[in-house]
Amino acid sequence: MRRVALGILAASALWGQQSALDPGGRNAQAIHALLVGFVALLSTIFVIVIVAALVPLFRRHRGIEQEPLERTHQPSEATEKRLGLVVGIATVVTVVILIGLIVVSVSVGKASQGPRRAGTGMTVEVTGNQWWWYVRYYNDNARLIAIDANELHVPVGQPVMIRATSNDVIHSFWVPGLQGKRDLIPSRVNTEWLQADRAGYFRGQCAEFCGLQHAHMAMWLVAHTPADFEKWLSNQLNPAVAPSNSDELRGQQVFLDSACAICHTIRGTTAAGQVGPDLTHFASRLSIAAGTLPNNKGNLGGWIADPQNIKPGTHMATVPVKAEDVQPLLDYLESLK
Ligand code: CUA
Repeated sequence: MRRVALGILAASALWGQQSALDPGGRNAQAIHALLVGFVALLSTIFVIVIVAALVPLFRRHRGIEQEPLERTHQPSEATEKRLGLVVGIATVVTVVILIGLIVVSVSVGKASQGPRRAGTGMTVEVTGNQWWWYVRYYNDNARLIAIDANELHVPVGQPVMIRATSNDVIHSFWVPGLQGKRDLIPSRVNTEWLQADRAGYFRGQCAEFCGLQHAHMAMWLVAHTPADFEKWLSNQLNPAVAPSNSDELRGQQVFLDSACAICHTIRGTTAAGQVGPDLTHFASRLSIAAGTLPNNKGNLGGWIADPQNIKPGTHMATVPVKAEDVQPLLDYLESLK
């Protein structure tokens, strides 16, 4: 019973929000097809080789071939010719298969890189930081550039070009349901196309060891219908909502008067720090601390009180907040939809 349960658990992990075996877009489908093709072809070859090795042994065992194993006489010329022919054919077939696999593999990799169909689709800059993602939506009009963190929102059915780089060490951007891994390298921009063909949530994870909190460097890619995406984008372009009651107003003052404002930006206020994630629309995000915890007041309270406990090594400072100021601060931050 326990084995069955474990089997079901293992099988269910193959599909879902973070799985290369459950592709949600074109690039991921091409990679998935490549994987299935490789496994099928190589498994077939494996079976053929094993059968070819076992059959003579089996025949010998059954006495079909009576030649002793330690025979010393030279094989006849005909046998040698036949063996040479078989080895020659097998070598040619092997070389052809290997070259074919390389060509297919490289072309799938090339097709996922940019730029393709230049001028169409959206361009998003993804910058790795220890240990969070800075995300910026390009636009020729500077007023239409949106800035986000730890989340990537895309419209369904449209190619999106990712321009990936890093601010510190090498990270790797990987949303298994939508694309292959792309390294984020300091002072270098790597490009890649991705396209989501169904709306939904896709979980991504940094795929290159980048320090203590590498495992807590996740992100959510949200694929919207085009209309929902426009709604999301226009909200992101707005400055932060103003506090709607005295608690939120108090919380805003606490934020602006503390060290929080040195590291974080909240557009529409005097907070303009560039060290940590932009918090203008913080409450619209699914998670805090780059996918570490769901975004709610309880988790946020714990995160602010003791970030090192939740994410040891994080650059998020422990900012002293008076006990009576904690609730107003949480009310304010969770009002920033
Ligand atoms: Cu960033 Cu691992």
